[in-house]
Amino acid sequence: MSLKSEISRLLSKGLSSVCSQKALPDIAALTLEINRLKKEKNAVICAHVYQRPEIILGTADFIGDSYKLAKDAVNVNAGKIIFCGVHFMAETAKILNPGKKVYLPALDAGCSLSESISASDIRKLKKMHPGAPVALYINTSAEAKAESDVIVTSANAEKILIKLFEKNKKVIFLPDKYMGANLAKKLGKKPGKDIILWDGSCEVHEKFDVSMIKEQKKVFPGLVAMAHSECPSEIIKAVDFMGGTGDMMKYIENTNAAAYMLITECGMGELAVTKFPDKHFISLCRLCPYMKAVTLENILKTLEDLPEKKEITVPEKTAQKARLAIEKMFELAN
Ligand code: 13P
Ligand code: SF4
Repeated sequence: MSLKSEISRLLSKGLSSVCSQKALPDIAALTLEINRLKKEKNAVICAHVYQRPEIILGTADFIGDSYKLAKDAVNVNAGKIIFCGVHFMAETAKILNPGKKVYLPALDAGCSLSESISASDIRKLKKMHPGAPVALYINTSAEAKAESDVIVTSANAEKILIKLFEKNKKVIFLPDKYMGANLAKKLGKKPGKDIILWDGSCEVHEKFDVSMIKEQKKVFPGLVAMAHSECPSEIIKAVDFMGGTGDMMKYIENTNAAAYMLITECGMGELAVTKFPDKHFISLCRLCPYMKAVTLENILKTLEDLPEKKEITVPEKTAQKARLAIEKMFELAN
């Protein structure tokens, strides 16, 4: 494919609505080479919706929220996965499809939630609350997953908690204190008694300003404000919709509001603009430095060199236990 036709392909995907026209030739040169190398090296690219739009629109084979990307990882046939997201996502793909080589283009792509809890913290909590099942957010390490009973994502946490409460009086929900409190409120459960929480939070979603939402709702009648469930409860109280990124996308697709305000990472709004060009968006967004650590340049370098230090590995014993908890999520989320 020529550079000119690659630029046309990117334009047809709506990239010019979120990128400067001047940057397109440089972007196209990179996406062209990345897509050529993907074929040559038998690799696919999985990308979370918070990734840069040129990565999603120009190079990704699988795009989605954490839940969809976990399901997609099981079905990858190519020999290699270049995971454009953060460390726990690449690790989850490796756990679910251990025969594939999984690479993370930016090794500093961590997550404040994942950092907040360790496997030994979970072991201590289990001793303190014997018999209570541990529902662990997917934004955690493989070692932490191996200590849990079921993994949840923003797309299925509510459904899975409802099922767990049918059989248990008390559930341990870790590590996002805001998501835990938001769900506890929705389900009529008492934090500290029915649902045991942890002091973890997303450094991106905990810092939104509630006055901005109230102001914009006054200015735009008919505005639907949507916030990620990782936001604190004062934000959730001020919005019309709480959910994960996949839920937000589905809601936008199926409704016709005068405007949508997306209170989440900026990549989500950029993707929505290209997917729904006729809808109006107001983005009250913040950047996740970890998600944004992945660039076209480091994806290309990863594909060229396939460096051992960027390959994600999980010890088999840990992977086996973590896999059981993720498979429990697939079972309960259905
Ligand atoms: P989603 O699963 O909703 O995409 O969330 C992942 C995440 O990291 C949100 O900050
Ligand atoms: Fe982690 Fe928050 Fe970034 Fe998501 S947005 S990857 S939860 S730090």
